[in-house]
Amino acid sequence: MKSIGVYPGSFDPITKGHVDIIKRSAKLVDKLVIGVLNNANKKCWFTPEERKELIEKTIADVDNIEVKLFDGLLVDFMQQNNANLIIRGLRSVSDYEYELQLALGNKTLADFDLETIFIPASKDYLYLSSSIVREVASHGGCLEKFLNAEIIKDVEARAKDK
Ligand code: COA
Repeated sequence: MKSIGVYPGSFDPITKGHVDIIKRSAKLVDKLVIGVLNNANKKCWFTPEERKELIEKTIADVDNIEVKLFDGLLVDFMQQNNANLIIRGLRSVSDYEYELQLALGNKTLADFDLETIFIPASKDYLYLSSSIVREVASHGGCLEKFLNAEIIKDVEARAKDK
């Protein structure tokens, strides 16, 4: 049986921290689905479709990955994709509290075999978040350390529209 994992998130935009988790977790499963949440209650810079495109541009070199949009419950998205492994990155102790809630909530909701695995962020990206990227971009700062080269221009252009 194929192992299918889902790495869910907002990815507004995808950062080098996300790429680090994606590349490492793609080695653990046969197929990795990146689930881009269409979250109406989070004010995003990019539409879900744009976030999907930015991810596809960034990870074009990794074979076993598919990027999909989702809304509603993560467990339903998992089931639709025949996936039973949720992948989440952990950066800090404060991440852990929220992540534990999500993991236990998802496990309780699922009426199928489901596990969450946590991948520790690499030390270079422990501090990184999409909000930091948006803040640096909105002040015209250099994005090279935070974003893959393929999407820097897209993020700079969006910052100018804000
Ligand atoms: N590198 C860089 N940044 C990272 C990161 C990493 N490795 N891991 C997390 N982040 C950042 C994100 O960039 C984001 O930053 P921002 O808030 O500054 O924009 C922040 O951490 C939040 O991460 P994200 O993974 O996007 O989480 P989220 O809280 O937006 O979404 C879902 C988490 C999608 C897993 C969750 O909301 C979900 O499953 N929703 C569907 C409804 C549902 O089923 N809920 C659970 C019920 S039990």
